[in-house]
Amino acid sequence: MTEIPDRPAVALASPEAAPALYEADDVRTLFDRMATSYDRMNIALSLGFARLWRRQLLGLVGATGSRRRVLDLMSGRGETWSEIERRLPQAEITAVDFSAQMMAHAETRSRARFGGRVRLHQEDALNGTAERASFDVVVSAYGLKTFDTPQLERLAAEVARVLRPGGSFAFIDVTEPTSRALRVAYLSYLRWMVPLAATLLHSDPTEYRMLHRYLAGFGDGARAVEAFQSQPGLHVEVRRHFFGCATSISGRRS
Ligand SMILES: C[S@@+](CC[C@H](N)C(=O)[O-])C[C@H]1O[C@@H](n2cnc3c(N)ncnc32)[C@H](O)[C@@H]1O
Repeated sequence: MTEIPDRPAVALASPEAAPALYEADDVRTLFDRMATSYDRMNIALSLGFARLWRRQLLGLVGATGSRRRVLDLMSGRGETWSEIERRLPQAEITAVDFSAQMMAHAETRSRARFGGRVRLHQEDALNGTAERASFDVVVSAYGLKTFDTPQLERLAAEVARVLRPGGSFAFIDVTEPTSRALRVAYLSYLRWMVPLAATLLHSDPTEYRMLHRYLAGFGDGARAVEAFQSQPGLHVEVRRHFFGCATSISGRRS
């Protein structure tokens, strides 16, 4: 793995400056900057829901002894691995994330808690380097909202390509709830409270402000749902979690 600088060289556009939200370099820079605080912010700011939804995500994947080769896309610091192992005790986990900083933390987690068994690939999930039909399961938590529609379509095609026939997949991400009152409360929380809490927890609020912008662009997740549904060979189910504050897209490859 390449050496990791303290701060990434690419400057993150300020949220006020209408950055090219979905450019890979900008997204990578955003997560490089969030990497140090991501774990504690994730637990504190999601009020425990992030962990619950990861558990529900793995609940969507059938637990059979043969489902061993698991691909964790947009894996971050490895937040989903404990749930993967709990659900699929024999899992051989391969993790893909393009943020060097997130991957550095993932490497530490893999060594400390997983005996270094997790295979780490620092690369763009859309690169298409994994072998065709080489995974039994593909999972991903909170990695969809930073993709635009063409990228979501490429991602869905990549999932169909790397899954073996009969293999299953499950994605989850935060979405805008359907109830207007809840939507206003949820968006206000993300827009105002999350950056404030980031400041109080000694993190840079700039990055956490972006969460609100990505959620606004992701809406109820319909773009992602359509991308997966339009992929021949994928049988897709959509579930709303906690009144639509998160949405999962799961299913299997025929
Ligand atoms: C919100 S974090 C989610 C981390 C983790 N899965 C979790 O459950 O908390 C999103 C992650 O997706 C990664 N990511 C976003 N776009 C990516 C892409 N095109 N290829 C690889 N990783 C990507 C980011 O670097 C970041 O680590």
